[in-house]
Amino acid sequence: MTRRHWPTGHGLRVAAQAVLVPAAWLCLCAAPAAPARPPPHGGSDAMTPSLRTWVRYPPVPAQLGARAALGKRIFFDASLSASGRLSCASCHSPRHAYGPPNGLAVQRGGADMRLAGTRAVPSLRYLTFTPLFTRHFYTPASADSEDEGPTGGFTRDGGAASLQQQAAIPLLGSNEMANPDAAAVVGRLRRAAYAAAFQRVFGAGVFDHPRQALQDIGLALAAFQTEDASFHPYTSKFDAVMSGHARLTPQELRGYALFNNPRKGNCARCHVDTPGPGGRPAAFTDYGFAALGVPRNPAIPANRDPAYFDLGLCGPYRRDLRRETRYCGMFKTPTLRNVATRTVFFHNGRFHRLEDVLHFYVERDTRPWQWYPTVAGRVAAYDDLPPAYRRNVDHDDAPLDRTRGDKPALDDAEIRDLIAFLKTLNDGYATVAGGAGTARPAHRPPPSQHQR
Ligand code: HEC
Ligand code: HEC
Repeated sequence: MTRRHWPTGHGLRVAAQAVLVPAAWLCLCAAPAAPARPPPHGGSDAMTPSLRTWVRYPPVPAQLGARAALGKRIFFDASLSASGRLSCASCHSPRHAYGPPNGLAVQRGGADMRLAGTRAVPSLRYLTFTPLFTRHFYTPASADSEDEGPTGGFTRDGGAASLQQQAAIPLLGSNEMANPDAAAVVGRLRRAAYAAAFQRVFGAGVFDHPRQALQDIGLALAAFQTEDASFHPYTSKFDAVMSGHARLTPQELRGYALFNNPRKGNCARCHVDTPGPGGRPAAFTDYGFAALGVPRNPAIPANRDPAYFDLGLCGPYRRDLRRETRYCGMFKTPTLRNVATRTVFFHNGRFHRLEDVLHFYVERDTRPWQWYPTVAGRVAAYDDLPPAYRRNVDHDDAPLDRTRGDKPALDDAEIRDLIAFLKTLNDGYATVAGGAGTARPAHRPPPSQHQR
């Protein structure tokens, strides 16, 4: 089953929607240029200038607002955890694009720091345009829009409605910061050096109402993640190329073409690489959900129980869609910005090298024995899903549309080209969003901005 073109039962079509863009956003190009698409079969360096597109980058605030400044202190404060050793930044490391600081599939937390998590830590970069979760998404600004299925929401199953709401999950999670309730979180915050500042922003009596105070903590954390440029720097080579300040190498350009070619990588189908509504920079995700059939990861302690399955949209963490078994196994499409800085991939952290991720994409069904265990002489394909849900696995979208013995959609050289392109999505190539005027030669190490 594909995540695309869900049967709506009533053939609903929606009209184009106008999307408002904050007036303060700046455009780095003098005049809007027509967005250029690469030819389907490769290309040459000569076409690099035509990649230039009209993109608006968010302005960098001169200083954080009062809420965001508080959120920053909370984000880095390990004293808010039961162990006293875990802050948001411990798992979402600013030095690693706010992704995991190590290659572990899951991190440990809890009062004694010995309880393992169940999902790989996602990057917190480029989340601010995440749409509200909906089961039926229609592409905005498209006159001929089709139901693209479940889309949006925070966490890998879209279960948190906002950054504010999400913040309570790690603060209260028994295997994360492990506060038993809101009162415990507030009790710790009262003892923090910024307690008085918290009262100035949210009211002198804020600590008397722990549940409300927990909401306010969420507001502060959300404001920090939304306002601080380190969460959306747009300083990649890709951004510099799109705004005309740098050129892709021939290999990167081949990778870019494969990324977009619907019969080869087809990555852009889900990891959208064109600007969003109103010239919003490409997010490299459509925020949609798909079941890729990623192999079970024995490195996750919860997986020692053969009856345990992480089914994403239909549970066990998210509860409202439990009966929607056609969603079982579906996880949110993450952004690919900074993906080449990660050493743990997919919701269950099963892979540790981009090469392996790419080989999995193209060989999942052509050489399944390489990816799944053989049980009683048969390959147990999609072994991280109970048999009843294995039909939810996406077979419709290339490169996942092959069968056993077919030629994989990408060969080794093409995979190397694709990875070269993915590396252009790492922030730190330029010093300013969009790379205006300051693009660095590719051989220089990236600057250490936004790190601490
Ligand atoms: C023990 C490690 C750990 C800690 C500590 C932690 N997180 Fe996370 N975070 C995760 C994991 C794992 C996920 C994915 C959870 C899921 O999909 O269910 C996640 C998901 C998120 C998401 C959703 C990202 C998305 O793609 O939608 C946000 C936002 C977030 N965390 C913010 C925070 C904040 C703010 C804090 C501190 C209050 C924090 N995290 C503390 C591990 C951690
Ligand atoms: C049908 C939609 C779809 C297509 C096509 C697709 N992806 Fe994905 N991609 C996803 C989803 C969904 C996930 C998350 C799956 C999970 O966690 O189980 C993902 C995850 C990834 C990850 C792991 C990122 C992380 O932070 O863990 C990488 C890398 C990736 N995709 C690269 C690619 C590349 C390169 C291509 C093209 C060859 C591609 N994808 C094609 C939907 C897609």
